[in-house]
Amino acid sequence: MKTEPPIEIEEDEIICNCFQITENTIRYHILKNDINQVEDVTSACEAGGNCGSCHILIQLFIDQNKHQKKLEQVLEQPVSKPKNHNRSFWKKLLPSS
Ligand code: FES
Repeated sequence: MKTEPPIEIEEDEIICNCFQITENTIRYHILKNDINQVEDVTSACEAGGNCGSCHILIQLFIDQNKHQKKLEQVLEQPVSKPKNHNRSFWKKLLPSS
């Protein structure tokens, strides 16, 4: 049986080739400064400040950060006790005589 070579994944890949800025650096600035626009990433670390071909990935990281924050907000909300819907359900189904 022929085995395929393992896929090598770089942990900190260069995203912006123009300025040699890595994914971790971009994510760090997005998280630290709560960045919502590619231009703000460029201001923080230069990524995206030249040809623009990395903008789509920078926007992806921004969107992932937003999604993560929303998820954390939802998980932090206390779970409210459900109202006793079962009781009213049974009352409707089996009215007392
Ligand atoms: S690759 Fe990022 S600006 Fe060119």
